[in-house]
Amino acid sequence: MRIIGTGSALPKKTVTNDMLATFLDTSDEWIQTRTGIKSRHVISDENIEDLGAEAVRKALEMSGLQVSDIDMFIVSNVVSEYVTPGMSCIIAEKTGLSCPMLDINCACPGFIYALDIAETYYKAGKIRTAIIACVEEPTRMASWEDRSTCVLFGDGAGAVVLAEGDNIKGTKLHSEPSPDKLWQRRTLVDTPYITKAEFDVPLQMKGREVFKFAVTECTRGVDELLKDTGIPKEKVDWFMVHQANRRIIDAIISYMGQPAAKFPVNITDHGNSSSASCPILLDECNRKGMFKEGDTIVFSSFGAGLLSGAAVVEW
Ligand code: COA
Repeated sequence: MRIIGTGSALPKKTVTNDMLATFLDTSDEWIQTRTGIKSRHVISDENIEDLGAEAVRKALEMSGLQVSDIDMFIVSNVVSEYVTPGMSCIIAEKTGLSCPMLDINCACPGFIYALDIAETYYKAGKIRTAIIACVEEPTRMASWEDRSTCVLFGDGAGAVVLAEGDNIKGTKLHSEPSPDKLWQRRTLVDTPYITKAEFDVPLQMKGREVFKFAVTECTRGVDELLKDTGIPKEKVDWFMVHQANRRIIDAIISYMGQPAAKFPVNITDHGNSSSASCPILLDECNRKGMFKEGDTIVFSSFGAGLLSGAAVVEW
């Protein structure tokens, strides 16, 4: 397939590190030094599904296609206020999409997993077009009393429209199932047959272990993908790395031995918006006119699961 349109939407409220320091035992200096984040966009009186719909509309407008042209809609979303229906159906109702649709919960690498699914359906001859939307509000997963998690996240939505083409040159997906490293639990309704104690647990994270997984798997995944596709890393024009922590991005840059200018960064004023991170960054760079036809773009992401993934796309 080929990406022919991108779109994104962010909550209007910006929360700075200094704002967090008014109610958390933290500081702008700590957060910036350890994560590279200065501020993030946080859901307030918006609904995440409206941001998802806005991102989809912008991507469609850029693509020149109509909703009736779309054969498949894939949404990547970890949490929303709805358990059912899936976020795809909620956004479809707002945008007029009425093709087959599905939701995936692959955490931060969701965009790459969705690209892989769309490309596989395309190669099987089942679709000619697709929209992927990554729609996330991780600020509603972490406890706002837990300084070690809530400072990291921001919300938002990013979308792409895919059409016929031979531009997805490869994808590489990986898992190391270890739910104890990054997780959140919510309580379901009681039944007469359930004796479990109820407990809602906000986002829990073994930060250092996730950090290590991120650096190891991003670099390994990208290395293997480039080897499989026969593309030398020097030929890659852009590395779109999941925006989770500036130090993780710097470690990947250093390992890859490629100029830092090839690694666009928006974590400074976005934080980690889970699977929306890569498509938001893609859309921002695209709208700045950074890409030229034929550019080679590598995506790489990691997150809860633990899951990771990489994709190489020709622009
Ligand atoms: N402000 C001030 N101090 C903080 C803090 C904050 N916001 N968050 C944690 N600390 C404290 C800790 O309590 C700890 O204090 P202690 O030594 O008294 O116990 C100290 O800072 C060091 O904590 P540590 O967890 O070792 O710091 P770190 O250098 O590993 O940085 C992360 C923490 C979370 C920034 C880092 O591990 C990380 O980014 N990991 C990856 C997380 C990630 O990307 N998750 C999402 C994946 S999709």
